[in-house]
Amino acid sequence: MSVLTKTDPEIAQLIEAEKRRQSMTLELIASENHVSAAVLQTAGTLLTDKYAEGYPGRRWYCGCENADAIEQLAIDRAKKLFGAEHANVQPHCGTSANLAVYLAALKPGAKIMGMRLDQGGHLSHGLNINLSGITYRVTHYGVRRDTEMLDLDEVRWLAVNEKPDLLVVGASAYPRTIDFKGFAEIASEVGCLILADIAHIAGLVAAGVHPSPVPHCQFVTTTTHKTLCGPRGGVILCKKDWAKKIDSAIFPGLQGGPLMHVIAAKAVCFLEALNPEFEQYAATIIANAKALAEQLIAKGWRLVSGGTDNHLMLVDLRSRLKDLTGHNAALWLARAGLICNKNTIPFDTRPPIESSGIRLGTPALTSRGMGSNEMARIAAWIDQILLSGGDSGAADRVRGQVEELCRQFPIPGLED
Ligand SMILES: Cc1ncc(COP(=O)(O)O)c(C=O)c1O
Repeated sequence: MSVLTKTDPEIAQLIEAEKRRQSMTLELIASENHVSAAVLQTAGTLLTDKYAEGYPGRRWYCGCENADAIEQLAIDRAKKLFGAEHANVQPHCGTSANLAVYLAALKPGAKIMGMRLDQGGHLSHGLNINLSGITYRVTHYGVRRDTEMLDLDEVRWLAVNEKPDLLVVGASAYPRTIDFKGFAEIASEVGCLILADIAHIAGLVAAGVHPSPVPHCQFVTTTTHKTLCGPRGGVILCKKDWAKKIDSAIFPGLQGGPLMHVIAAKAVCFLEALNPEFEQYAATIIANAKALAEQLIAKGWRLVSGGTDNHLMLVDLRSRLKDLTGHNAALWLARAGLICNKNTIPFDTRPPIESSGIRLGTPALTSRGMGSNEMARIAAWIDQILLSGGDSGAADRVRGQVEELCRQFPIPGLED
């Protein structure tokens, strides 16, 4: 940082401030994580200098021999990790991975069927202000009102009636196991293609603690920066017969030059995830989520669908405080050093900007080495803050304890 401090003290200071913020708060945002020092180091290398339009062995520019070797390693590791026939590691993010699948598989005006955004889906699954919803016709499925879970019979009924060209399965805020095989059977019954978006649960799938969609779906997309614990980016896995179309959709269809520093960091994260220890890590993410969920339920908070099978949970704030919005709850918790996001809950009567829920996840806490004892303490703090009515004294008291816990469990990226 000393060079940066000289060149640009403002940015250097802000990076230091962010390091302090991450170190001294608890990250409960389910889509975030803390990467290893090896991933962090790789993402900050001079690979950022290199233009490598194209694919290994088929580049537009000269001087790509190291880029070729790096990208090939990333591809081979991704295929091995997920048991996939083909991998494209160039998507800059999860959204571009999804858009590339649409570009490869659909004509403009074709029909996509994805999960409703306000019940756990993602905006790249057909929101009307996202390119997915602007370019394609869209129809949605959701969760059942009584169980707040996906119901395959309902999805099948909708798919038969709506006749989508592509069924999209995957979520940003769904706390239960997804039956990818069941979804793939529906797609084959109605004769459409299927995309499984495992952006959130990729680490759980890679570790074998959540069923994999890879054997059942033509396309699987993911981000690398959530439970997979890698750099910010995306990946597309697909069947061999779609490889050429997918590669062309990413480049030159949707993107220009790949981010070689990020692709190298993806390769490092795949190697880390191939390590047998990663399975234990992923299992602990789930065990921690279950522990946090149980503690919150014991304190009287209702969780959407009654609990969790994965890395996240949705707290229905109305279950104890009718007037508390997700917006206010997230702000109060942040003042105490507990960072999470507001979230709609299924059939929410409040607009998304207010929301009646908060989404809590355990990947980042698990990456710091925390376990069930820490989950119990965190649940107690969440409870205290939510019941405090936004009292600043309560926030200060909890903040002190949060910082003490943070010091005991440093974030991994700062190790050398
Ligand atoms: C299910 C799902 N798909 C795709 C994305 C998009 O990822 P990105 O923000 O990298 O575009 C997300 C991000 O949260 C997600 O939850």
